[in-house]
Amino acid sequence: MDQHLAVRPAVADDMGFDEKQVPLYYSRKTLDILHKYGPGPRVHYHLGLFEPGDTPNTTVSQDVIRRRLVAAQEAMVERAATLWNVAANPPAHLLDVGCGLGGGSIYWAQRHRSSVTALTVAGDHVPVIADFARQAGVADLVSPVLGDVHHLRDENRYDAAVAFESSGYMDREVLFENMAQAIRPGGWFGIQEHFVRRPEWTSFIDGYYKTRLGTLTEYISAARKAGFVLEDDEDITDRVTEFWVQSMAWTALELDRIEQAGESSPIARERLAESALTHGRFFRVWRDRSIETRILLFRLRSN
Ligand SMILES: C[S@@+](CC[C@H](N)C(=O)[O-])C[C@H]1O[C@@H](n2cnc3c(N)ncnc32)[C@H](O)[C@@H]1O
Repeated sequence: MDQHLAVRPAVADDMGFDEKQVPLYYSRKTLDILHKYGPGPRVHYHLGLFEPGDTPNTTVSQDVIRRRLVAAQEAMVERAATLWNVAANPPAHLLDVGCGLGGGSIYWAQRHRSSVTALTVAGDHVPVIADFARQAGVADLVSPVLGDVHHLRDENRYDAAVAFESSGYMDREVLFENMAQAIRPGGWFGIQEHFVRRPEWTSFIDGYYKTRLGTLTEYISAARKAGFVLEDDEDITDRVTEFWVQSMAWTALELDRIEQAGESSPIARERLAESALTHGRFFRVWRDRSIETRILLFRLRSN
């Protein structure tokens, strides 16, 4: 545990959310994520962005699909960097909230020379991130930290913070309050996330990913209360929907590898079958816009 985080026992919070289940979920998933989205050193665990109308052929090799998934994930981070105007004004010190295996943290360090604090609640991921940062030649810029953002106690420490598909795990009021403390006045908080539009899907998605997704309105009001202003909002729902099709294709080919070629996979056969079915459902949910994906930019007021 880092000195910037107050230690508290992992317990169910006021919303009935069990704080222990997310670290456990991610620790168990490390090999699966590396297998599907690796080999690194920039490994992401978020949706990928396709060009509008781009629906690439899925009857290709599994390796082609894997590289396409990774390229689309990278395109997501590049798009956010463009929208947030990072190249013109790179943050000297950036907090990557819920950094996964550190793909984003390494991107900000490599491309924009930011010094990045990579915060994760999954203890097993810390040495993996450190190793990838070494491989990428940015070990001096990326500091992986184990901790829960709800207990972050940093003050005026960062020029900016980002959260790619991690804010959906968090209590938004606490998240924005802690970001308002941690970021310097006038700094920004960039978020890429899914937002509920048709609530009947929330429990299904939350159950599958262990999230607690919210609405855009909920985010904006929590942000305002903490002193942030929404400066930019890009709806990328239509551009990420294709990711589910490509992901399904990868999974079907993985099942073929196991069942027809008799090869092994770090991902359990049952999880692959569940994933193929669920990603098919997610495709329809995103295409129908029952859930939206957006890239948001919040600015912390200067006063
Ligand atoms: C879907 S992954 C996204 C990872 C990464 N941002 C990316 O885009 O590749 C969600 C991440 O949020 C982290 N996370 C979830 N709850 C958290 C919390 N309370 N504090 C810090 N990190 C958390 C998990 O450990 C995981 O790394």
